[in-house]
Amino acid sequence: MGDTISMEQAALLMEAARAAANHAYVPYSHFPVGAALLTMDDSIITGANVENASYPLSVCAERVTIGTAAAAGHRHIKAIAVTAPRVPVVTPCGGCRQVINEFRMPGGTVFVILEGADEPEITTIDDLLPRSFGPRDLE
Ligand code: THU
Repeated sequence: MGDTISMEQAALLMEAARAAANHAYVPYSHFPVGAALLTMDDSIITGANVENASYPLSVCAERVTIGTAAAAGHRHIKAIAVTAPRVPVVTPCGGCRQVINEFRMPGGTVFVILEGADEPEITTIDDLLPRSFGPRDLE
């Protein structure tokens, strides 16, 4: 469980992320981002970036989405898709990579779904954040 993701699941997640981007609150950057994650029990949770007049308080789509999942009781995530309608492809910022890493299955990974030319590209948090520091390092 959690060691693979199908192209169909990836496409479904990306569709959910694209829909979520419509709810982005981006009066300052005008750069909407949507995210959708797959929980270990295969439910989908979505989110979008939420900015603030005090700019540094703005929250990325990935962190909104992961926060929603964590607050609903999820502790590990199987995959997360991210999309920004204004650009062909967006990848999670460094801070969000660390937050994604926090919720990986011990011994597993988190699949990260990016927009691709014809179909979504499936990469992993290991690819995006090699030699990471995480919860296990504090045990
Ligand atoms: N942003 C995200 O939500 N996720 C990313 O992966 C990249 C950046 C947001 C933050 C800010 O609201 C806007 O995009 C411009 O940086």
